[in-house]
Amino acid sequence: MQYSPKVMDHFMNPRNVGEIEEASGIGEVGNAKCGDIMRIYLDIEDEIIKDVKFMTFGCGSAIASSSMATEMVKGKTIHEALAVTNKAVAEALDGLPPVKMHCSVLAEQAIKSALIDYAKKNNIHIPELDGVV
Ligand code: FES
Ligand code: FES
Repeated sequence: MQYSPKVMDHFMNPRNVGEIEEASGIGEVGNAKCGDIMRIYLDIEDEIIKDVKFMTFGCGSAIASSSMATEMVKGKTIHEALAVTNKAVAEALDGLPPVKMHCSVLAEQAIKSALIDYAKKNNIHIPELDGVV
């Protein structure tokens, strides 16, 4: 399987690994097939994602996808972060092998799930997240 240098870089030197104490929102998602689990912590202030950390127990592509996704949402508004799709993450990594695309889906879902948690905790409604699990 051929991985891009960017995937290898984010796998070997993942950015934003860790946890945030008293995070504004935490999202955890998993893929039942491969058993991988990804957790994203968001620190949100005035609708801006001030900080983001991740813990991923999974394959190299899942780690690279989480690392890239955290970089893409850091410093962004909630609405900008919602535009970070799994396709955008995979493209930013210069592509993922087709059988590894679901790893980037996990990253998109983890961010959305953390935003849903944030919205619930703060009693706010984010229309884009309606119907998203
Ligand atoms: Fe190996 Fe996901 S399939 S860790
Ligand atoms: Fe399942 Fe990568 S193989 S997340």
